[in-house]
Amino acid sequence: MRTMNTAANIEQALRWNGEGGEHWIAHRERHEELRRDLIPRLLAAAAAGPGDQVLDVGCGCGETTIALARAVGPGGGALGLDLSAPMLAVARGLAAEAGLANVQFVQADAQIHPLPPARYDVVLSSFGVMFFNDPAAALGNILGALRPGGRLTFLCWQGAGSNELFGLPQAAVEQHTVAEPAGDEPFTDPGQIAALLTGAGATGITVEPVAGTARLGADVADVLGYVRGMGRYRRLFAELDDDLAGRILGTLAERYAARQRGDGIWIDLAAWLVRAARDPRG
Ligand SMILES: C[S@@+](CC[C@H](N)C(=O)[O-])C[C@H]1O[C@@H](n2cnc3c(N)ncnc32)[C@H](O)[C@@H]1O
Repeated sequence: MRTMNTAANIEQALRWNGEGGEHWIAHRERHEELRRDLIPRLLAAAAAGPGDQVLDVGCGCGETTIALARAVGPGGGALGLDLSAPMLAVARGLAAEAGLANVQFVQADAQIHPLPPARYDVVLSSFGVMFFNDPAAALGNILGALRPGGRLTFLCWQGAGSNELFGLPQAAVEQHTVAEPAGDEPFTDPGQIAALLTGAGATGITVEPVAGTARLGADVADVLGYVRGMGRYRRLFAELDDDLAGRILGTLAERYAARQRGDGIWIDLAAWLVRAARDPRG
């Protein structure tokens, strides 16, 4: 029997094996389009080459793992690690369609999974590192899987103040409710990212802002449907009375309508592109 140790991040395991995973799969192509300018930057920073062994943390439906498998070629290998069985099922299907034999997917919690020590030349993550309940422990575990001198690179979102993906819904909620104090989200803060990586023993740390506009969807109805299905807003709207929910959605619809172009609704995105390395001395 296959088991997965999710003791460290049970809520996230439930989320991504449940409605969160379903929503992500349903909007997989939207997410690809949304991050079209960001993912090539991540892959370029990872610079995986022929023969490399690479690990993709929180690989989701496996698009970056597949890109990495192509980059490393038949002499190398790519492993995608994720909590979500349904998302990994999609990933395996996409890898089979691509005819790749050098890619594998494993359902596991990257924070605690016993990764082989010093195995990987490159570890990459596309928005998969922001969910650990103990980021220091998780980054320590991940860095231990890099060979000395190996590279870690990941993308994570900037805060709602500069990133309209979360900023527009949050502003609409705040306009109509007494806002709860913002939670501590370490990966939105470059100082905290650098401190976490330093604490985990990484060297050569850079945290670079990457920003641009991106197409979120076709029209207001399409985009509102997407946002209402996002975990945090699905939970919020389930708790609000209909009148308040309607006012928030009305404000949000106006904000999206103001961003409508001929080919869809475009928003400003802002992420951090993080680079680090395992100390070459081991
Ligand atoms: C925002 S999605 C990104 C998915 C994919 N990398 C992409 O860019 O499309 C975050 C992913 O991280 C995974 N994840 C969250 N916490 C994790 C953990 N502790 N270990 C492994 N995967 C995790 C989730 O299951 C989910 O697939």
